[in-house]
Amino acid sequence: MTPALFTPITLRDLTLPNRLWVAPMCQYSAVDGCVGTWHVMHHGAFASGGAGLIFAEATGVVPEGRISVGCPGMWSDATAASWRPVVDFVHALGGHIGIQLSHAGRKGSRRLDWVGGHAEPEEGGWQIVGPSDNAYTGYPTARALTVAEIEALVGHFADAARRAVAVGFDAIELHAAHGYLLHQFLSPLVNERTDEYGGSFDNRVRFPLAVIRAVRAAIPTGMPLIVRLSATDWADGGWDLEQSIEFAKRMKEAGVDLVDVSTAGVVHEQQVQVGPGYQVPFATAIREGAGIPVSAVGLITEAEQANAIVEEGRADVVEVARAALRNPRWPFVVAEQLGHRPDLPPQLNRARRV
Ligand SMILES: Cc1cc2nc3c(=O)[nH]c(=O)nc-3n(C[C@H](O)[C@H](O)[C@H](O)COP(=O)(O)O)c2cc1C
Repeated sequence: MTPALFTPITLRDLTLPNRLWVAPMCQYSAVDGCVGTWHVMHHGAFASGGAGLIFAEATGVVPEGRISVGCPGMWSDATAASWRPVVDFVHALGGHIGIQLSHAGRKGSRRLDWVGGHAEPEEGGWQIVGPSDNAYTGYPTARALTVAEIEALVGHFADAARRAVAVGFDAIELHAAHGYLLHQFLSPLVNERTDEYGGSFDNRVRFPLAVIRAVRAAIPTGMPLIVRLSATDWADGGWDLEQSIEFAKRMKEAGVDLVDVSTAGVVHEQQVQVGPGYQVPFATAIREGAGIPVSAVGLITEAEQANAIVEEGRADVVEVARAALRNPRWPFVVAEQLGHRPDLPPQLNRARRV
C-alpha cells in the first residue's frame, strides 16, 4: 500500500504526486533581485529528488520588501524573467514549484545572512517600513506606512503574482509568517495603528485579507493560493492560535486553498517551545477549527514521523527545510525507507536499493 505521505493531493487544478514538500528557504544569492545559476542548482536538486512541491524562497514584491540585499524579487520584468530558467528546469525534471511572495517590513534591509546586521544605504540597504514606527530588537526603527502606501502594496502583491504566473510557477504562497510585514499587521505586539488597519482583530486582518483577495483575483481560478502563517507569537498578548483559526476561516472564504502553518518570528522576546514536530499541533488545530487543508513544518526529520502526521490526519502535507538543505533528495530517501518507489529521473535509477 502506498504510504499516506506519498499519495497525491489536488488543490484546485493542480495535482501533486505526494505530500512531502520542500519549504521556502532564503538563499541570499540573488543580485539586484535576480536569481541565477545557484537557484537553478538549488531547485533542480529538489525537483530531481522526489519532492511533491518546492517552494521558492521569500521573494520581494517591491525592492524594499526583500529581507536582505541578496534576496530575490518579482517586482519587474527583469526580476521575473530571471526565474524562468529555474521554473523551466524544475518542470523539465517533472517537478512542481510555487513561489513565496513576501514583504519583510521592519525586518528588511539585512546584509547577507553570513555577514549579518543591517545593510546601510551605501551597502544597498533601505529605509524599513512597518505598520507602526517601532523596531524589532537590533533593527533600526521602521517608518509607519501611510494608508495610501498600504493600498499601493496590495496592488504590488497582485502584480507580483501576475508576473509569477506568467513565468510558469504552479502555485502562489503569501508570506504572512515569521514576523514579516503581513504578520506585523496581524500581531498586536507590533501593530500599534489607530486607523482601520490596527486595533481590533477585524482591523489587523484587513491588510492581509486585502492582499489575499487581490492575489486571488490576479491568478487563474485553477491555481492554488497558499498562505504561510505564524499560528502563534509565543508571547503574552500576541497573535495566537484562536486568532489564527478565525483568520483561517476568513482566508478560506477569500479563496485560500491551504494554510502552511509555522509559528513565531515577530518579537525577540518570544518563548518558543522547540522539539520534534513542535508546530504540528497548531496545524492540526487550524485544520480542524477552520476546515481547511494545512501543511505542517518544523523539525520533521524522520520518515515514519512524517508519514504518521499525514496518515493520522494531523496535517494534509508535510514540509521540510533543513533536512532537504542537507540532502536535497531527502524525499527519495524517505520513500525508500517507507518501502515506496516513486518515479525519478532515470539518471537516479542506480541509486535505488536492490
Ligand atoms: C536557510 C533557511 C532559509 C529559510 N528561509 C525561509 C523563507 O524564505 N521563507 C519562510 O517562510 N521560511 C524560511 N525558512 C524557514 C523554513 O521554511 C522552515 O519553516 C523552518 O526551517 C522549519 O523547518 P525545518 O525544521 O524542516 O528546517 C528558512 C529556513 C532555513 C533553514
